[in-house]
Amino acid sequence: MKEFKRYLLTAALPYANGPVHIGHLAGCYLPADIYARYLRAQKKDVKFVCGSDEHGVPITIRAMKEGITPQQVVDKYHAIIKNSFEQMGISFDIYSRTSNAVHHKTAADFFTKLYEDGLFEEKETEQYYDEEKKTFLADRYIIGTCPVCGNENAYGDQCERCGSSLSPEQLINPKSALSDAVPVKRKTKHWYFPLQNYEPFLKQWILEEHKDWKNNVYGQCKSWLDKGLQPRAMTRDSSWGIKVPLLGAEGKVLYVWFDAPIGYISATKELTKDWEDYWCKEDTKLVHFIGKDNIVFHCIIFPAMLHAHGNFVLPDNVPANEFLNIEGDKVSTSRNWAVWVDEYLKDFPEQQDVLRYVLCANAPETKDNDFTWKDFQDRTNSELVAIFGNFVNRTFVLMHKLCKGKVPPLHAEILDDADKNMLAEFELSKSKIENLLNQFKFRDALFEVIDLARKGNKYLQEKQPWIVARQTGDDGQPIGEAQKQIDNTLHVCLQLTANLAIFINPFLPFTANKMLQMMKVVDKMLDWENAGKTKLLSVGYSLRAPELLFRKIENEEVKRQVEKLQEASSKQQSTIDKKENNNKKMEEIKTEESSKASPPAGGGGLEGALKSTIQYEDFAKLDLKVGTILSAEKIEKADKLLKLEVDLGFEKRIVVSGIALHFKPEEIVGKQVVVVANLASRKMRGIESNGMILMAEDKEGKLYFVSPDQKINEGSSVT
Ligand code: 2FM
Ligand code: ZN
Repeated sequence: MKEFKRYLLTAALPYANGPVHIGHLAGCYLPADIYARYLRAQKKDVKFVCGSDEHGVPITIRAMKEGITPQQVVDKYHAIIKNSFEQMGISFDIYSRTSNAVHHKTAADFFTKLYEDGLFEEKETEQYYDEEKKTFLADRYIIGTCPVCGNENAYGDQCERCGSSLSPEQLINPKSALSDAVPVKRKTKHWYFPLQNYEPFLKQWILEEHKDWKNNVYGQCKSWLDKGLQPRAMTRDSSWGIKVPLLGAEGKVLYVWFDAPIGYISATKELTKDWEDYWCKEDTKLVHFIGKDNIVFHCIIFPAMLHAHGNFVLPDNVPANEFLNIEGDKVSTSRNWAVWVDEYLKDFPEQQDVLRYVLCANAPETKDNDFTWKDFQDRTNSELVAIFGNFVNRTFVLMHKLCKGKVPPLHAEILDDADKNMLAEFELSKSKIENLLNQFKFRDALFEVIDLARKGNKYLQEKQPWIVARQTGDDGQPIGEAQKQIDNTLHVCLQLTANLAIFINPFLPFTANKMLQMMKVVDKMLDWENAGKTKLLSVGYSLRAPELLFRKIENEEVKRQVEKLQEASSKQQSTIDKKENNNKKMEEIKTEESSKASPPAGGGGLEGALKSTIQYEDFAKLDLKVGTILSAEKIEKADKLLKLEVDLGFEKRIVVSGIALHFKPEEIVGKQVVVVANLASRKMRGIESNGMILMAEDKEGKLYFVSPDQKINEGSSVT
């Protein structure tokens, strides 16, 4: 194994466009913090850097939504995020921001170096442009109807309702989010980083030299590399961001994914004048902590940039986590389906470690996991309170009652196997925990700590010093032999408590601190080199009265949180519905008078992310019927729409379908199709459409009817 002299840990720079939620913590910041604290306890030379990502479309979109400037957005959320991290005990050595001057210069210089080395390709392409606002539009700034689910507020890169990845060309009725104008294509020049040139290097470095990376990370990299890399534009048309440092590049800024990872370098520069030791010396271990959506940027694009620039170390590991869902559903900021850290801290003051515990015990290390408030309660009450807290509390209470509040001596001559085995567990646990932490297996490492506390409880239960204490002499005190046994048991339990404090410290630092107070020892005791030792607390040393480490979470609190989640999400939904309703009304008015708009959902499905899980009851709400197309005709000035008359057996229906670019009317007459028969009617181009035809769509965007494999009666149900 390679020996490293220093460690540089980075945690993904969160966009300063909203507060952080517990999914962020579980995915990236908590594991990074545990690792940083573990290394520091080992006296390693560690720098742990992070900061707010303040550029890019996410910021300008938020500014538009809140009606404030991008600068006001980042100032507001940078402060909220920074505070949440601090309160949660995320121990960055620096939490910087990409609007800092140091960062602007570092990123611009990085770009200039690549430019001067001739490593960019300059290309002119056509991009969407808003003629009213006189600005190019990022995909996110184009809004229209999702061709998959009919959401009228889908973005040009993604529909947030159904999760499909989209391109602006696929949106129905695309319009600029800035002005409502229909966007036009216009030529623009950009600088592309030819990733394909770095394929051989990346293949060797990742696929050959980093087989040790987590399966999810290695697998995603392999799939990108197998597909083949494409040039990627590293500049954008925008007024918000780091200006492209070239003549003739007015109105252009660096792509946010070019500048953001350079933010790690800038933050280190701000932190220490020795920043080059951490970034340029081969014996630095660089580890990027991220969520799975950032893998390609940290494993492929940024390393290729660093390699192209030269002089920088590459990440030794990128232990990305998967996603944390909430109560069975994907986190969605637009639906307000999230548990926000700043709100948690208000609702559960002083309960940071409880959240840290639950998020680590349930961390999405190998697959997406689910956070539920019930699980939060169960884990707190039955693991933290009933196992860890209970052991420490019992030990202290008994020590005060049976050993005068002092660390009792150890009487070696009467040590039995149970005592010896318990003492031997300290070292064994240390090596298991170390081994797991070195492999970024934080969940399993935490389970080992809890397991050690469980063993402590079992030991105490077997030894029953409170029963032994009943063997009293004339003076009412335990007889000599009994007191010796009690001393041994509580001596072992107290040394175990000291070890537990060291082991739990990286995970639950607030708890470790409380334990230090109770033991009246300084934080040096938490040094990792002390773990496994059986003589951490000196005999005769008097300790403080016990303080409960954790409190139970009550049913009422859990109920309130679940309701809060649901209320916040329905409030958001009703705002969206209102907005959609207004849009719909506007649309109906517009379609009466104009021919600019394009077609509604014909039912074609795009390859996209899988939507969130639904229950059978959700599916059962659909009334799917087989129908036969009786007639089909084009709709004037709507080149994507066909007006179909469909026989459903029990009635004939008019359905407007967005399939005109794929089928000629005469080709489809007589075709049997599946119709969503209980879909609310919608007016399109002045025609009322009553239902939707189901279509399948392949990767190339070609549409196919979904039909029974032989002719059957109209009106037959599809179940
Ligand atoms: O996904 C995100 O939230 C990005 N802001 C992460 C950036 S990580 C790094 F490159 F800075
Ligand atoms: Zn959709």
